Amino acid sequence: MMSQNLPLPLLLLFCFFCSPILIQGSNQDERKPYIVYMGELPETRSYAVEDHHHNLLTAAIGNKKLARVSKIHSYGKSFNGFVARLLPHEAKKLQEEENVVSVFPNTRQKLHTTRSWDFIGMTKKVKRRSNIESHIIVGVLDTGIWVDCPSFNDKGYGPPPRRWKGKCVTGANFTACNNKVIGAKYFNLDPVSQMPDNISPADDQGHGTHTSSTAAGVAVEDASLYGIGKGTARGGVPSARIAMYKVCWTVGCSDMDMLAGFDEAIADGVNLISVSIGGPSREFFNDPIAIGAFHAMKRGILTSCSAGNDGPHLSTVENVAPWILTVAASTVDRQFTTVVSLGNGKNTTGLSINTFCPEQKMYPLTNGVLAANGTGDGYGNPISCDYGTLQKDKVQGKIVYCLGGMGNQDLIIKELGGAGTIIGLDNRIDDSYNVVIPATFVEANTDGRDIDLYINSTKDATAVIHKTTSTKIPAPFVASFSSRGPQFINPNILKPDLAAPGQDILAAFSKLATITGYPQDSRYEVYNILSGTSMASPHAIGAAAYVKSFHPDWSPAAIKSALMTTATPLKTSDNFSELAAGAGQINPAGAVHPGLVYDIRIDSYVAFLCKQGYNATNIGMLIGTKNFDCASAKLAQGTDGLNYPTVHLQLMSANEKISAVFHRRVTNVGYGTATYKAKVTAPEGVSVQVIPDTLVFSGLHQELSFKVVLKGPPMANETRVSTGSIEWQDSKHNVRSLILVYKPML
Ligand SMILES: *[C@@H]1O[C@H](CO)[C@@H](O)[C@H](O)[C@H]1NC(C)=O
Ligand SMILES: *[C@@H]1O[C@H](CO)[C@@H](O)[C@H](O)[C@H]1NC(C)=O
Ligand SMILES: *[C@@H]1O[C@H](CO)[C@@H](O)[C@H](O)[C@H]1NC(C)=O
Ligand SMILES: *[C@@H]1O[C@H](CO)[C@@H](O)[C@H](O)[C@H]1NC(C)=O
Ligand SMILES: *[C@@H]1O[C@H](CO)[C@@H](O)[C@H](O)[C@H]1NC(C)=O
Ligand SMILES: *[C@@H]1O[C@H](CO)[C@@H](O)[C@H](O)[C@H]1NC(C)=O
Ligand SMILES: *[C@@H]1O[C@H](CO)[C@@H](O)[C@H](O)[C@H]1NC(C)=O
Repeated sequence: MMSQNLPLPLLLLFCFFCSPILIQGSNQDERKPYIVYMGELPETRSYAVEDHHHNLLTAAIGNKKLARVSKIHSYGKSFNGFVARLLPHEAKKLQEEENVVSVFPNTRQKLHTTRSWDFIGMTKKVKRRSNIESHIIVGVLDTGIWVDCPSFNDKGYGPPPRRWKGKCVTGANFTACNNKVIGAKYFNLDPVSQMPDNISPADDQGHGTHTSSTAAGVAVEDASLYGIGKGTARGGVPSARIAMYKVCWTVGCSDMDMLAGFDEAIADGVNLISVSIGGPSREFFNDPIAIGAFHAMKRGILTSCSAGNDGPHLSTVENVAPWILTVAASTVDRQFTTVVSLGNGKNTTGLSINTFCPEQKMYPLTNGVLAANGTGDGYGNPISCDYGTLQKDKVQGKIVYCLGGMGNQDLIIKELGGAGTIIGLDNRIDDSYNVVIPATFVEANTDGRDIDLYINSTKDATAVIHKTTSTKIPAPFVASFSSRGPQFINPNILKPDLAAPGQDILAAFSKLATITGYPQDSRYEVYNILSGTSMASPHAIGAAAYVKSFHPDWSPAAIKSALMTTATPLKTSDNFSELAAGAGQINPAGAVHPGLVYDIRIDSYVAFLCKQGYNATNIGMLIGTKNFDCASAKLAQGTDGLNYPTVHLQLMSANEKISAVFHRRVTNVGYGTATYKAKVTAPEGVSVQVIPDTLVFSGLHQELSFKVVLKGPPMANETRVSTGSIEWQDSKHNVRSLILVYKPML
């Protein structure tokens, strides 16, 4: 405070005599955490990583002591780098250092929020290799875990696999792991993020418990939320082990904590990683999830990530690096509906998860306009029942109809003593949310309008909101909230890659969070129903683990290819199905026998990065090769430069002609000799040539190359997306790759 009033020379003079702590104190406030990413670990073991970080920092800051207090953490188990509090010019200076790949400010990302396995063709009776499965360790970066839940019962499990190097860190509300949840750690390098949370791997939000049990929970019969969604809750690989890395706190998930989670998970020996977290897309090496997943991939670990919940708008997909499995959310064939009976004898069906049973009576019904506080000074609109706009005595004991609003009307009406609320929404609704009092969401322009008209037509309107029941619906579809492609970081790689169930998923939950997440709620349950691409990623990693149990030696790209080429194409209610669902919905049982795989090894990713224009010195650091030169790498060929299991061309302008070549290489993983023929379904207005169109394999693991040539005039004015497919077929397999051409508006 004092220093602000002093002229600079005086300040310097003053501080010359004061203790160094004071210099640091005043400077430290302006400093912000930056991540300094330095690629692969140095080869020589004698090299002291932390000393090197300290020297770099001292050079950038110009003061040894200040450098020491500014450093927050050194990474060094699976990759090289550190986090420090820096001023912008110091960050810039570090960026210019020769051992540094990237320097970026720490940001916070957000969480993307039982019959699903049956629904994708993986019944309880599916063939399993349980003994191999039990050696698979699924790492989850999330909000922590609540071990004391039937889904994590370790009865019948042997000790952790021998190679496991992880630990169980105990602490507040977290006393032990078991032979199911074999590891748990937490990362709170970002000190503000600790505030209201348990400083331990305990799950304060329920999200991590839910995702972990979806990936690898044991089968639990008759699981439900107050009878809703009753069925067997189970993970994709019930025999596998779980390791939790708590990187998310109530305020979000810090980049530096996520990188620390990856650093340790890889070194601990997990086999697969699921991350249901995201934020705006960034260049790969300024993105902690892309960096972590890259180093995981190098060690044979596949990372799956949620695609984001910003659909149905196009170009909203997150976590787009090509070494990540990017997962969209699909629906299952069940919807949770909540019926409202009105005093005029009519019934309206809305969506919500309402666990409350009403009394045998009708409740007075009103709306936000009639219940408005005339003298209120609330900032919102009473029609939406916004906070501070309603009058308590006009709400008490009543059901209130609210139009639109911020989405927390159930809480507002509860606090005013209301009996329930009906919320009219403009946008399409397809998933059901937990509510803290009897409540349901209806479509504003149809059912909502009828309810409002009824309220206006009489002085004593009444209604009752029934407990939620489940209804069978046609499926699968892509959920409307699921983020869509295309992406712009590497435009000719289609994202999301595929879809997995992510809507209205029943799975384990934490006793430390209420089922709505509101502290005003009093319902603590060990099962809960949640929706989001967050729920889809663990389904995909469970499927990947299942495939891995049959093919332990397959690379991450091979597993991903098997899941993509055997997926079931999906529909959406708009015209952009494949931009929403990629290859389609996972079919884990089919993915065990894909016939052919599109494999990608580290040198192919390196060639791809060279083609993308990444700095060769930096690429060299990623793979730990000094004096790396892109000219020495086998140059990536074709429009996308990667052996990807989908074929995607993003045109740059509306009148661009179509002309693209994609080089591909498939590996025979079927039955020795095989002859595959290409069946092409050309996108409308595009000619597709596959050269050669027959592949004759003389043995297992043989690789054969082909290319796909797309040609055509500019796409029709009204068309933005044109799709087709290539299917390599022998008598037993159908290896399907989606072809998608995307044209921008202008
Ligand atoms: C969490 O820990 C606190 C403090 O020890 C305790 O009061 C509380 O009961 C614990 N919560 C649960 C759900 O066990
Ligand atoms: C309205 O719904 C309730 C509860 O589900 C049901 O008991 C009643 O028969 C329904 N009435 C009509 C007219 O469909
Ligand atoms: C109406 O709003 C005023 C001003 O915010 C507040 O003082 C008053 O308590 C409210 N009345 C009721 C009945 O809620
Ligand atoms: C019901 O009446 C309110 C208040 O007069 C009005 O704002 C609203 O538009 C009416 N609803 C319908 C559906 O006409
Ligand atoms: C989908 O495409 C058809 C034909 O091109 C068009 O008539 C329709 O309006 C489109 N629907 C949407 C939701 O864009
Ligand atoms: C890559 O970055 C380094 C360090 O910033 C720089 O010296 C070098 O010239 C760059 N190389 C290329 C090919 O741009
Ligand atoms: C397509 O758009 C261009 C430019 O807006 C226009 O000149 C042309 O007439 C349009 N073609 C058709 C068939 O509508």
